[in-house]
Amino acid sequence: MYLKDKVAIVTGGAKGMGRGIALKFAEEGANVVVCDLDLAGAESVAREIEAFGCRGLAFRTDITNSSEIGQMVAGTLEQLGTIDVLINCAGGVGGTHGSGATGTMTEQEWDRVLAINLKGPWLVTEAVLPTMKEKRYGKIVFISSMGAVSPVVSVLHYHAAKAGVLGLALNLAFELAPLNICVNTIVPGPIETSFWDALMPAGPEREAFFTAVSTHEIPLGRMGQPKDIAGACLFLSSELSDYVTGQTICVAGGQPVLSQQATFNIEGYLKDRGLL
Ligand SMILES: NC(=O)c1ccc[n+]([C@@H]2O[C@H](COP(=O)([O-])OP(=O)(O)OC[C@H]3O[C@@H](n4cnc5c(N)ncnc54)[C@H](O)[C@@H]3O)[C@@H](O)[C@H]2O)c1
Repeated sequence: MYLKDKVAIVTGGAKGMGRGIALKFAEEGANVVVCDLDLAGAESVAREIEAFGCRGLAFRTDITNSSEIGQMVAGTLEQLGTIDVLINCAGGVGGTHGSGATGTMTEQEWDRVLAINLKGPWLVTEAVLPTMKEKRYGKIVFISSMGAVSPVVSVLHYHAAKAGVLGLALNLAFELAPLNICVNTIVPGPIETSFWDALMPAGPEREAFFTAVSTHEIPLGRMGQPKDIAGACLFLSSELSDYVTGQTICVAGGQPVLSQQATFNIEGYLKDRGLL
């Protein structure tokens, strides 16, 4: 077990990638704190964690609210004694109006999306750092987005926030390396989660969209799943990566490696090489 008796906080752990990460960590022996706006979802995941024989705690925490974050961190320390790992996973574009292209956003909308996706992860990180600094140990993982480095649609506020996360993580890695606190970022490609609910309703149209994305943009030819992110997260949260900090790992089906453009055609690529 790679995380035996470690204490991990996973923000946004009630659903999607966060849930996948929390369950993977429990499988590896970690006690996991699930904090999310969705308390019922967080409690349900905490019960799933306990089924692995680990402690699972649930908090209703808005990561844009420093007082709620403070309560969650204090509750974690009181009940589990320490914090070894922070996964800054909560985020998304829920509640967005307009496409996100120029001319479609209000200033309030910009501030709100920046708060969820950039300020929030910074606030949670600040709240766990006193514990990690004192013990001279910590693993912090941020979740950015391929849209930050290779946008295929225009969503200015979200992509700017996710690009900001890359800078935040790099600066933290630089500052905290002397304290043995490692900070890295995962850049996911398209992952099948409830993230997409804010963008299009579930059903045949969304399935057709996923098929088109998988075919034309993803060299590996499929959408990602939460377990794909959980695997990379386990690496960056365990002793497997003790000499790794300030790094960015794209978990995106090969998107940045093989595709300089969004129009990469996996079928054409395979046909050209006699593989299809
Ligand atoms: N799914 C994708 O294709 C994709 C791609 C790139 C990046 N991402 C990013 O990955 C992360 C996880 O997304 P997901 O796909 O699992 O989405 P998801 O919608 O399934 O889960 C996100 C979780 O975050 C929680 N959350 C949102 N705002 C919050 C807040 N202010 N405070 C606390 N919790 C909050 C939600 O309640 C939800 O449980 C997000 O940061 C998202 O931006 C997703």
